[in-house]
Amino acid sequence: MTDLNELERDLLSQVEAAGDEAAVEVVRVAALGKKGSVSDLLKTLGTMTPEERKERGPLINGLRDRVQSAIAARKDVLAEAALDARLVAERVDVTLPVQESPEARGRIHPISQVIEELTAIFADMGFSVAEGPDIETDYLNFTALNFPVGHPAREMHDTFFLAPDENGERKVLRTHTSPVQIRTMTSQKPPIRVIIPGRTYRHDSDQTHTPMFHQVEGLVIDRQANIAHMKWILEEFCKAFFEVEQVKMRFRPSFFPFTEPSAEVDIQCSRKGGEIRFGEGEDWLEILGCGMVHPNVLRNCGLDPDEYQGFAWGMGIDRIAMLKYGMPDLRPFFEADVRWLNHYGFRPLDIPSLVSGLTS
Ligand code: DAH
Repeated sequence: MTDLNELERDLLSQVEAAGDEAAVEVVRVAALGKKGSVSDLLKTLGTMTPEERKERGPLINGLRDRVQSAIAARKDVLAEAALDARLVAERVDVTLPVQESPEARGRIHPISQVIEELTAIFADMGFSVAEGPDIETDYLNFTALNFPVGHPAREMHDTFFLAPDENGERKVLRTHTSPVQIRTMTSQKPPIRVIIPGRTYRHDSDQTHTPMFHQVEGLVIDRQANIAHMKWILEEFCKAFFEVEQVKMRFRPSFFPFTEPSAEVDIQCSRKGGEIRFGEGEDWLEILGCGMVHPNVLRNCGLDPDEYQGFAWGMGIDRIAMLKYGMPDLRPFFEADVRWLNHYGFRPLDIPSLVSGLTS
């Protein structure tokens, strides 16, 4: 006859020795499973005489109960230890900075961002965007814009000339976005309302000039487009772009071959503490050139100046970007230094719109 005490000691020590829940399960099946040692003992009860059963029954049942509860207790202990181990292994330091995904780490260059801002503002006023090539003919960059051959205004543009082609024609890197005015007027019928952002080139380099820079041109041609419209548009633009309630603008008479009359526009600002602010202060800062499109330019585009008139303006994008975002030097704009981009660049999803705010 099985020695119940010995069996119990043996089973309990196996339970104790089990190192994980799977090992406990093996012991349980060996003892309490269908063919387990304890289950076998329980089966023998049926073959006993009532007296034997009276004596052995409680002993075997007691053994089964103790083994069962030892197994349950061991499983609890092991489950808790396993959980503790997992908690240690999978611990995260919530104070560590979140790792940005590559898409989130990319930055939009301030020039691209400012072009998006300009476009949003002028689109709201009914303007579309026109573009032209960086390599331009002398005719479109100068002659069609009423720069007579040999006129000193040509010299002022510090033009980059390309080598003469087979016809002896020297193309230029466009010195301004104005040639796209001609391209637009010869390819579209008035009414015309376009802005023309793009790259421009001049032989010039210092803290505020780079050989390649950006301009945005505006052009409105209609039967009655006049200076008052231009003034309103430019003021609305400046308020929206610099995100101020009011701007004061000053139109100073100036000269451009392609406009008559011509003006340079200053906006009022304060320069206290080395920081430029708009909508306050006593200083003036030049931001753009503008004027009524010269009748010769209209004629060069096949438009009758007695029927159509309009206005145009040109503005340095890099310059207004520097003013808006407080960037002191223009040269790093084009150095592709990732540290500069991280500092001054914009997040890809900061898409400017007049509804959600230009800069959020
Ligand atoms: N193209 C001129 C420049 O680069 C800027 C300019 C002035 C453009 C007056 C215009 C304008 O359209 O009307 O200096």
